[in-house]
Amino acid sequence: MSDARTYPPSEAMVKGAHVNAEQYAQMYEASIGDPEAFWAEQGKRVDWIKPFTQVKDVDFTLGKVKINWYADGQLNVSANCIDRHLDTRGEQTAIIWEPDNPEEDAQHVTYRELHAQTCKMANVLRDQGVGKGDRVIIYMPMIPEAAYAMLACARIGAIHSIVFAGFSPDALAARIKGSEAKVVITADEAPRGGRNTPLKTNADKALASCDAAVKCLVVRRTGADVPWDEARDVDYTALAKTTPDTCEPEVMGAEDPLFILYTSGSTGQPKGVVHTTGGYLVYAAMTHEITFDYHDGDIYWCTADVGWVTGHSYIVYGPLANGATTLMFEGVPTYPDASRFWQVCEKHKVNQFYTAPTAIRALMGQGNEFVTRCDLSSLKLLGTVGEPINPEAWTWYHEVVGQGRCPIVDTWWQTETGGHLMTPLPGAHDMKPGAAMKPFFGIRPVVLEPTSAEIIEDNPAEGVLCIADSWPGQMRTVWGDHERFEKTYFSDYPGYYFTGDGCKRDADGDYWITGRVDDVINVSGHRMGTAEVESALVAHKKVAEAAVVGYPHKVKGQGIYCYVTLMGGEEPSEDLRKELEAWVRNEIGPIAKPDLIQWAPGLPKTRSGKIMRRILRKIAENDYGALGDTSTLADPSVVDDLIENRMNR
Ligand code: WT7
Repeated sequence: MSDARTYPPSEAMVKGAHVNAEQYAQMYEASIGDPEAFWAEQGKRVDWIKPFTQVKDVDFTLGKVKINWYADGQLNVSANCIDRHLDTRGEQTAIIWEPDNPEEDAQHVTYRELHAQTCKMANVLRDQGVGKGDRVIIYMPMIPEAAYAMLACARIGAIHSIVFAGFSPDALAARIKGSEAKVVITADEAPRGGRNTPLKTNADKALASCDAAVKCLVVRRTGADVPWDEARDVDYTALAKTTPDTCEPEVMGAEDPLFILYTSGSTGQPKGVVHTTGGYLVYAAMTHEITFDYHDGDIYWCTADVGWVTGHSYIVYGPLANGATTLMFEGVPTYPDASRFWQVCEKHKVNQFYTAPTAIRALMGQGNEFVTRCDLSSLKLLGTVGEPINPEAWTWYHEVVGQGRCPIVDTWWQTETGGHLMTPLPGAHDMKPGAAMKPFFGIRPVVLEPTSAEIIEDNPAEGVLCIADSWPGQMRTVWGDHERFEKTYFSDYPGYYFTGDGCKRDADGDYWITGRVDDVINVSGHRMGTAEVESALVAHKKVAEAAVVGYPHKVKGQGIYCYVTLMGGEEPSEDLRKELEAWVRNEIGPIAKPDLIQWAPGLPKTRSGKIMRRILRKIAENDYGALGDTSTLADPSVVDDLIENRMNR
């Protein structure tokens, strides 16, 4: 890996970028040497109603984990993302909105309009009885109202929890209940790839099993006729017309929660990752500016959905805190055809473009002509996130999309980290295809030997990746379950934040993420707990037992491979396979649909009944020659059957 081809930063980047190699070295040293002083200085990136006097108050010790940044400071995130820009850039475009259908008009929302629209939404929420600390679920298409809803919550001190519009009513209901939300904000329908998802109808299904007091605010997107419950539903679009467009921002403590975002873990139900106000905003703003080398006047586009953390930090909060122009795209990369991303880049003269490896691989497979027919001369920088990018896709992205001119920032981070933890900086570092390269300021990565938990100091190194100290964007707790927070992240490797990822550090000291070391798989850049898919499968009346693992998938990165044991008397069939696929889709959402289902008369278990996933992973990878030690299996013969009938050949 250390002899992989390296791409040094271009002269133009070195000259013009916010951070060059010398500055990186000096600033990184400072950030590690004196974090208090470093982050006190960076804290000035945001406007404080009451300035902080404390900077960092952190303990990673199991049993008393606490993470506080800027704790006595007071601020409002929405005022930082909107109001403070009004004097200097009120007429500048804050959000460019590109609809699913290219025939429909794009919108340019100025900071002044953003202020008015956010205030309207905030006032409507207040009228519905939502106040500081209350939870609001956002279940929306990628339309400007989704950003207004986030910022409106921040304005009145409500805690938002966005549920990706691709999630099922059941998943939505679990999150409404888990967060004890007062209001759900949704839309009539969500157009995507030429098809409309019935969001309001899904919300109705979810709300049917929730507390009757939960209100439903409906934004009109397509104008479709939707079922209506007069007692519960509020027509936001009608109401907004007559709602005042100013609203005083609430004074928030730096450690008041800003949002909850549910994400999959290796065990049990998804957990509510909690991010707070001050440190999160400082970190999102700083990483957005420096990683993407954002300069005033640039047009910046992150293709993520606001349902994921990437959309929170790098479509809404980071860019708007920096007074940027951020593009929001409602559609998909392949509609009307595989040229759409590049057409949007050309149309809006995008300067920084940030997407996921799965999209790059899918588009690469369609041929270069879809790219080369567009004028991409505005592009200055490309970014990727979500999973390791294979060198082939990296090179295509660099050569064909970036025309060899644009650096690629391969940003490694997580829902839990709030912002980038490792990435090459475009004016400072060499790039190596597939490597996340260098820690961001204040980040102290350590590579540990997985079983002894000893730090590996020398290079090259390979092991599990932990972080030795806190940074302002770190999650603070799991919603309603601090113990689970401590157990998940601070118990396996005491004294460190455990990322769940494995990594290599090459001879040059550069970092390569090798993927999850737990039972989490990464499907098209979306995180999926294998336990979640398993519990969905066993909830089906014909399924006795299920084990789910990831396997390499050409486009998605990892695919979902399910071993299913049926109830006695049930026969495997193609119909049943389809039924189970639809069932999981329904229980969790389309992203969880099994790619391969193998009928398993039995699963390989230890004598104590523990499923040996290592073996199942090997078979799913079609690498069954080296199954390792199978001597602890209760019944070794089940393995032969699984190998013989494997689905991935
Ligand atoms: C997991 C986090 C952070 C927003 C998107 C996903 C994997 C993420 C990279 C990268 C290699 C990556 C890791 C991580 N991952 N970015 N650049 N290179 N792996 O957020 O759903 O919280 O998933 O995604 O395995 O732990 P998430």
